[in-house]
Amino acid sequence: MLILNQNQIKNLFSSHEVLEAIERAFKIFHENKFEMPDRMHAHHEDITLLLMPCFTEGFFGTKLVSVNPKNTAIGKPSIYGSMILNDSKTGEPIALLNGAALTAVRTGAVGASGIKYTSKESAQNIGIIGTGIQGFTQAIFACAVRPVKKIHVFDLNEEKLAEFAASLQEKLPEVEICSQTSSETLVKESDVIICATSANEPVIPDDPELLRGKCFIGIGSYKPNMRELPDALFSLIENVWVDTPFAAFESGDIAKPLEKGLLGEKQVKPISNLVANETYDSSETSFFKSVGMALFDVLVAEYLYQKAIKENIGTQIDL
Ligand SMILES: NC(=O)c1ccc[n+]([C@@H]2O[C@H](COP(=O)([O-])OP(=O)(O)OC[C@H]3O[C@@H](n4cnc5c(N)ncnc54)[C@H](O)[C@@H]3O)[C@@H](O)[C@H]2O)c1
Repeated sequence: MLILNQNQIKNLFSSHEVLEAIERAFKIFHENKFEMPDRMHAHHEDITLLLMPCFTEGFFGTKLVSVNPKNTAIGKPSIYGSMILNDSKTGEPIALLNGAALTAVRTGAVGASGIKYTSKESAQNIGIIGTGIQGFTQAIFACAVRPVKKIHVFDLNEEKLAEFAASLQEKLPEVEICSQTSSETLVKESDVIICATSANEPVIPDDPELLRGKCFIGIGSYKPNMRELPDALFSLIENVWVDTPFAAFESGDIAKPLEKGLLGEKQVKPISNLVANETYDSSETSFFKSVGMALFDVLVAEYLYQKAIKENIGTQIDL
């Protein structure tokens, strides 16, 4: 069995190759060539434990992830996890991957697919609200799909914001990184706004004129009581594009507007329709909401495993 740790995953992947793996996942989803039992959510005190299995033709895999938003306060990441990849024919476990690194990489590519299919091709100014690990990979992958010149960043935690801006500037020296003092100024300055926070209430002012003409990518809200986007957005958009159908009831960013009658069920559509048919949403204002699914993890784990074998990276162990 091959073990791939956080650093090995960070150094191994190419953004374009992960984006290809995610587009393959969307096409497999569209053709229904997979089996994915509902993911299990278990809650204990501040922790949510997710058990995420999925079968595809070549491989199957299970990701086990714990999320504790309170970890931020003690300087620890909110997500820990591991992913086991198995051969689909024999069931043999062939790789164990660091689940937090895998999640950050695949979620970066999922967000970027949203940008590719629902934002203006000329978008040069990206805004990131929420400066955790997801915000970081969202920024990196956004640069793989748009000609990004400036990335505006904002977080309620000023210390985290400053560290994030410095690390992102080091990672992307050709892009100007601008720290903002409010989400309002960030939205004004950005063509695409990515929310990657742990917030329970909208992180952007409820003002349609501020939101008009922009593309919004929602990464954070994964429970019905969590929200990032304000009600005003739903008066401006034709559809909400989702990465998975269960986003509609798992995420407060869709469940709440549905409940309030601001959004109709028929307006919630899978983005795999756009990816599989290579069509693009050209609405003035757009919204893509991601909650993630195990199919992404299997396809990206498969890609990382095959690349690691080719490049002789990782540690082989006998279980
Ligand atoms: N869509 C997916 O597939 C997917 C995958 C992984 C994680 N997530 C979710 O994405 C979110 C971010 O993940 P992370 O690992 O980077 O978390 P994190 O806790 O490291 O970072 C979240 C950041 O959001 C900031 N924040 C909270 N409320 C805010 C507000 N109102 N305005 C501005 N900033 C605010 C916090 O200060 C923190 O820095 C979490 O909710 C996580 O569960 C989604």
